[in-house]
Amino acid sequence: MKMNEKDQQWLDDILLKTMNKIAIVSERSKEKIPYTTSDGVHDDKAYVDPNNVWQGLSFWTNGFFGGMMWQMYHKTGEQRYADIAKKTEVALDETFELFYGLHHDVGFMWLPTAVANYRLTKDEDAKRRSLHAATLLAGRFNPVGKFIRAWNDNPDHDNRGWAIIDCMFNIPLLYWASEETGDPRYSHIAKMHATTVMNNFIRSNGSSEHIVEFDPFTGEKVRIYGGQGYADGSAWTRGQSWALYGFVMSYKHTLDQCFLDTAMKVADYFVSQVPESGLIPVDFDQPAEPAVEDSTAATISACGLIELAKILGDEGHNYLEYAIKILKAQSELRCDFSDETDSLLTHCSARYHEESHHYSIIYGDYYFLEALLKLKGEDLYLW
Ligand code: GLY
Repeated sequence: MKMNEKDQQWLDDILLKTMNKIAIVSERSKEKIPYTTSDGVHDDKAYVDPNNVWQGLSFWTNGFFGGMMWQMYHKTGEQRYADIAKKTEVALDETFELFYGLHHDVGFMWLPTAVANYRLTKDEDAKRRSLHAATLLAGRFNPVGKFIRAWNDNPDHDNRGWAIIDCMFNIPLLYWASEETGDPRYSHIAKMHATTVMNNFIRSNGSSEHIVEFDPFTGEKVRIYGGQGYADGSAWTRGQSWALYGFVMSYKHTLDQCFLDTAMKVADYFVSQVPESGLIPVDFDQPAEPAVEDSTAATISACGLIELAKILGDEGHNYLEYAIKILKAQSELRCDFSDETDSLLTHCSARYHEESHHYSIIYGDYYFLEALLKLKGEDLYLW
């Protein structure tokens, strides 16, 4: 990947600031599994809430702090980062016992922790945990509809036939399991799910649905939902970035051209919507006011665009330029590099329809670090 000298200087400067901050924060937060911050201080998801199995230890984002630590370990070789990451990995064991809090997001939880550990250290316990998580994910496959079911039973609506775009990030756990064991069952499921998503989520303009409901008995497509976006049929930006990077991942694991073509179609839509400022709204179809943003969509999409540029070489240079534009907007306008607070990105949003926006979210920070390391060619590929 060719970057000009000015961009390389920017990258070196921002990566240094980012790593200096993570070095300090990792020490302060080493006993925690953070999701967000309150008054600048990381919260901690390392608890079991007997009344809400989705919260606490089973929360879907609990792999990202560990993942950040493995990226730092990979870059610096400092053992203390591996020690912090392993603490998260061991703490998550309890969720296997709890079982009910686990859902399709086991990939988000164990790829950046146990699989990362196994990739780097060949730790047998990490391999066992990773295969356990992969087997749980495979068990969610609906063979008639050829999709992986999202979420678990919900008293408010029947979601037995729901699939969501986010799951494109979980299926690399299945590709990994087949690559590791030589048993193709896992990757068959991953490919079938990705194909269903390609055919039912991706619209003709390259944007993606968030939720598609299938009849769980016949597999017939029933309807779409806007989910965490502005409205049914709109383009929730984090969903677009899950789709973009997600199809890149499926291509990397299968070398199936249709997944690369889909990734490019989604990427072309995404870059066509990036505003002049480079700051990413929560939904590309949201009204002008309130001008709510989601920095997580910015950093995830940047990672996907960089990977795509790496695959395409000179042909993908436009994607690289957009990734840098998006990351520069974050580093110049939306990053807090001070030592006093525990998070980097300031303008993350979980969904369009929520009371508060513009707070910190751990995976926004994780993908910011991953994107910078990717630009340097020094990331640990986790997915
Ligand atoms: N995977 C859930 C989200 O992106 O909010």
